[in-house]
Amino acid sequence: MIRFKHVSKRYGDQEVLSDLNMTIQKGEFLVLVGPSGCGKTTTLKLMNRLIPLTGGSIEIDERNIETLEVESLRWNMGYVLQQIALFPHMTIEENIALVPQMKKWSNEQIKTRVQELMALVGLPYEEYHQRYPDALSGGQQQRIGVARALAADPDILLMDEPFSALDPLSREKLQDELLDIQANIQKTIVFVTHDMNEALKLADRICLLNDGAIEQMGTPQQFYETPKNDFVKQFMQRKKVTVKQLMKPGISMEAPTIPSSTDVEELLHLLTNTSLVHVIENGQKIGTIEREHAFRQLGHYLDGRGDVS
Ligand SMILES: Nc1ncnc2c1ncn2[C@@H]1O[C@H](COP(=O)(O)OP(=O)(O)OP(=O)(O)O)[C@@H](O)[C@H]1O
Ligand SMILES: [Mg+2]
Repeated sequence: MIRFKHVSKRYGDQEVLSDLNMTIQKGEFLVLVGPSGCGKTTTLKLMNRLIPLTGGSIEIDERNIETLEVESLRWNMGYVLQQIALFPHMTIEENIALVPQMKKWSNEQIKTRVQELMALVGLPYEEYHQRYPDALSGGQQQRIGVARALAADPDILLMDEPFSALDPLSREKLQDELLDIQANIQKTIVFVTHDMNEALKLADRICLLNDGAIEQMGTPQQFYETPKNDFVKQFMQRKKVTVKQLMKPGISMEAPTIPSSTDVEELLHLLTNTSLVHVIENGQKIGTIEREHAFRQLGHYLDGRGDVS
């Protein structure tokens, strides 16, 4: 669990973060979103102690990070920096192997891990492991950055716009991988993006920052249903999605039914009270909508990748 208590950060006269309070649960996928300059990167840097706090404190599992040894704090936190920061004089393999080496894993263990991660991010080991970073495109370097952050299997992942340089397909693939990783091994992830659609797709909870303060914090569902003010609404501009696009085929269990022509707004409202509905068309049940699946799908359509009608 990570807890921010009255955290503030100043640069000279400028207050960049003011009285930030939030708790991130173990295993939670928290997405920090907000306009450029609102303090997202600063928030991550504070957690990693790349920069000192001006006021307040940050605790990890009830321990103030300032009382922890900085190396062990960082080894336990994978960090994908916003500016790609691979070491230029090291090969791709050496870059990824860095923290496992510091942790004194065996060579065999490290090699297996590097191969596994390179496959995960779609850069085959044989082809790429001996290259130097400047022989990779920006998007490829970004993917190696993700692999490096995952390398030593940290409990906490800090990711600062990790997919910003990727084409939509690679981006979608890595988003899905990341959701899988988190579902399977319950990492605590703090993910920064300025893209609300990405936030809605990935987040367990979203923290929307504006000018160094939290504008709204809650689940994607809460953002859809109860955006707090015009600023939040502006971030939530969405396209028209139909009920059928949120549906999974197949019928299971008893559940309320809705016609397929139901308005999505109405569906979302219904899903606050029930986690499952069946969709009816011409008197036949044609599919099922599950709350969680539907919200993930909604993020997907908002990305503009589905056939939005
Ligand atoms: N070293 C620094 N010295 C002075 N001001 C800084 C420094 N680093 C950041 N800032 C300022 O702090 C504010 C927050 O910066 P930060 O990098 O956290 O924004 P961000 O939300 O990550 O933005 P972006 O989406 O553009 O990456 C900005 O106004 C920035 O100019
Ligand atoms: Mg930033």
